[in-house]
Amino acid sequence: MDFEAFFKSELSGLHEEGRYRVFADLERQHGNFPRATRYTATGQHDVTVWCSNDYLGMGQNPAVVEAMKNAIDHCGAGAGGTRNISGTNHYHVMLEQELADLHGKESALIFTSGYISNWATLGTLGQKIPGLIIFSDALNHASMIEGIRYGRCEKVIWKHNDLKDLEAKLKAADPRAPKLIAFESVYSMDGDIAPIREICDLADRYGAMTYLDEVHAVGMYGPRGGGVAEREGLMDRLTIIEGTLGKAFGVMGGYIAASNALCDFIRSFASGFIFTTALPPALAAGAVASIRHLKTSQIERFAHQERVRRLRAMLDASGIPHMPNPSHIVPVMVGDAAKCKWISDILLDNFNIYVQPINYPTVPKKTERLRITPTPLHSDADLEHLVGALHQLWSRCALARAVA
Ligand SMILES: Cc1ncc(COP(=O)(O)O)c(C=O)c1O
Repeated sequence: MDFEAFFKSELSGLHEEGRYRVFADLERQHGNFPRATRYTATGQHDVTVWCSNDYLGMGQNPAVVEAMKNAIDHCGAGAGGTRNISGTNHYHVMLEQELADLHGKESALIFTSGYISNWATLGTLGQKIPGLIIFSDALNHASMIEGIRYGRCEKVIWKHNDLKDLEAKLKAADPRAPKLIAFESVYSMDGDIAPIREICDLADRYGAMTYLDEVHAVGMYGPRGGGVAEREGLMDRLTIIEGTLGKAFGVMGGYIAASNALCDFIRSFASGFIFTTALPPALAAGAVASIRHLKTSQIERFAHQERVRRLRAMLDASGIPHMPNPSHIVPVMVGDAAKCKWISDILLDNFNIYVQPINYPTVPKKTERLRITPTPLHSDADLEHLVGALHQLWSRCALARAVA
């Protein structure tokens, strides 16, 4: 086989379908979020980032940065091993205690990313619990889908956030089979929120465990940043809460929080936990500082919510269509792959505004969008600059405006 020719022809398929991903070459500026330096063939210049998942700017928080620097001074760079073989650092232990406390669970277990925590946990449960059926929301993240596939157990997909469909599918399954319902709180692309309470009610009725991915909610919702389940007083009803340290907490890593026995089970059987180098101690130290800060400070959460409301109001005033939802994610709808990419390119090249286009297969065709994520650190001037630029480009692209 001509391997090189194969790779190139697969890539040219992506180009033809307009799905080839181009990464912006950026350098985040310490202490100057949401500004970054963009590197191009012709030079460097400042851009304002509007699509970061560092939702609260905690990646630049002085307490977090200081904690990471101190940990490097104390421990050096890497963990030096897997968790089992010399890699468990005291910062990992503190982080797991902090996370268990955040979610009101007996234990927590950290992984190298949110992706791996979903993949390893769902995969291990699927493989190890005899006859397990996993009921998976149709819009679950790729990491959950891959984890369930790796688990090789029976999988039932229920219509997104549709309680009737979930109940019909639970009812149709073997009543003796062990069951697990896997879903997210805030869905990343549409920003809609699951009916967590009602899903837990169904889980109780049909004897199922619940697995909630709170990746887009931890740090941002609830009085201590425990996520939507904390805000709604539901954390104790979930068997497993999964989250990331890489979005609102501003660092990197993933975790689950659950009972002692469940965390110990995953710790003892999940290959994605066992056979990989532990997170660098500095990441764990930064995450501990970030979680502790957000457990007591409401400033970032309130400022974030205010910025989101303000952006939505300004978009409405300009007639720029955005998907209504109850979260912090503002999907500005373009509905055409080429125009979406073009708007994103012009925003970057002519306005120094960086917002990545979101096209198929991440979202369905004809729903292409700019997924805008305002943070507490975007100023009024930033908002005016963004909405002014979108206003101009909407006219140039002859895109429909929303009617107020
Ligand atoms: C819903 C959801 N779960 C899990 C992940 C993976 O988290 P991480 O980026 O920490 O790997 C993502 C990433 O965007 C996500 O959107």
